[in-house]
Amino acid sequence: MRLTGIALALALALPACGGASKPAATPTADPAPAATLYERLGGKPAIEIVIDKFLANVVADARINKFFAGLDGAAVAKLRGHLVDQVCSATGGDCQYTGRSMKESHTGMNLTDDHFTAIVEDLIAALDDAGVKPADKDELLGILGGLKGDIVGQ
Ligand code: HEM
Repeated sequence: MRLTGIALALALALPACGGASKPAATPTADPAPAATLYERLGGKPAIEIVIDKFLANVVADARINKFFAGLDGAAVAKLRGHLVDQVCSATGGDCQYTGRSMKESHTGMNLTDDHFTAIVEDLIAALDDAGVKPADKDELLGILGGLKGDIVGQ
């Protein structure tokens, strides 16, 4: 507030002091903070839609659905909740991920690069279905791609 006042006084005073060769900077209010990826995705309701579509894609994906075949309804509901919270919190939303670490959850599955690629493709299809912009999609995939080392080959 005080700084803005000083900036305003300077901007008004400068031309009178002979500094009028350049236009005086217009004092502006602080810019609004940039929207987080979470907000750009559309918040929790939009993330829930993406995760539901993603899980439907995974279940239909013969390359990887055997890994999920043993999960009962309660386990799928838990996985869904954890995936939503994970994406929400990783993109700047006000959520807390309370599931296991990626290493812990995937150890013993012997997941390969091909499995990982398959799941990423299932997620991309879900994001495309939801109309997520390419830049936002890339940002999310970059975040999740960083988890690969804890998921593949465990
Ligand atoms: C970016 C890639 C991945 C992410 C972000 C991810 C994320 C997660 C999360 C958050 C959980 C829940 C952990 C918990 O409930 O404590 C989970 C569990 C699981 N993930 Fe992944 N995962 C990825 C890749 C994969 C791949 C490639 C497969 C297999 C093809 C896979 C198969 C599973 C299975 C079967 C479970 C359930 C484990 C259980 O409930 O016992 N995941 N994953």
